[in-house]
Amino acid sequence: MHETICFGGLFYFYTMLDADKSIGIFDSGLGGLSVWKYVAEFLPRESFIYFGDSKHAPYGNKSDAFITERCHHITRFLLDENVKLIIVACNTATAAAIESLRENYPHIQFVGMEPAIKPASLLSKTGHIGVLATHGTFKGELFKRNQEKYQPYVKIHYTEGNGLVELAEQGKVYSDEAEKLLRKYIEPLVENRVDQLVLGCTHYSLFIPVIEKITKGAIHILHPADAIAKRTKDLLMQHRILQTRKNHGENAFYSNGKTSNMLDVINQLDVEAEPNIFSVDN
Ligand code: DGL
Repeated sequence: MHETICFGGLFYFYTMLDADKSIGIFDSGLGGLSVWKYVAEFLPRESFIYFGDSKHAPYGNKSDAFITERCHHITRFLLDENVKLIIVACNTATAAAIESLRENYPHIQFVGMEPAIKPASLLSKTGHIGVLATHGTFKGELFKRNQEKYQPYVKIHYTEGNGLVELAEQGKVYSDEAEKLLRKYIEPLVENRVDQLVLGCTHYSLFIPVIEKITKGAIHILHPADAIAKRTKDLLMQHRILQTRKNHGENAFYSNGKTSNMLDVINQLDVEAEPNIFSVDN
């Protein structure tokens, strides 16, 4: 698609190919940054616009109606920014709202997240897999359908990671408090011979170094963003909107929470360039 823009009475014609547009990506807050990092490395020519809804985090204990309303609000924001595809970098938001988003915005492709039960089941040698996710994700239909397929073949150990999203949002990933909480959730999994751990919440990926310290290699952690990166590329190719012209993409980050917390998380992800972070009210 091409676009014409009119500046103050002068007609300025330029062609913006859909492929040149950015990919929109959002989460209830900062967790989706781990997904952004992974996808941005996988698709280095693409530009991204990230929206972190920190003001309303956590989503995990909110109603589906509330989460859906937030997802619609953020989608409209990203569409106003002219994005070409939207990644819902949040398992809880995907569970609550992806169907409604696809129904209401049929002209745009959405990539959602769901806990990686399938790859974990295929990889498990002990027949025990662990899933760490939010209450909202566990109660979703998507999760139930996924779980029913694999339950006959592996024992799935479910753990709600209550409190972890809040700690990640407050910049306390490496705190004693976080390690103590993670020990409470992870040690029983090790004792129960779990050999594959599914992180069913994007915020939990920020804790991977702490989880690895606890499991000491006994459990393989599945990075949830891997499937998202491949699915995104596939959709961009199918719709002929994969960026092939530029060498490097650009990134813009929006937060309605503390931008300093967003900067800290981006820095923890070892991003080389100085990030462009903008504050938004809602
Ligand atoms: N990052 C969200 C997810 O993947 C966190 C959920 C929350 O805000 O509770 O589920």
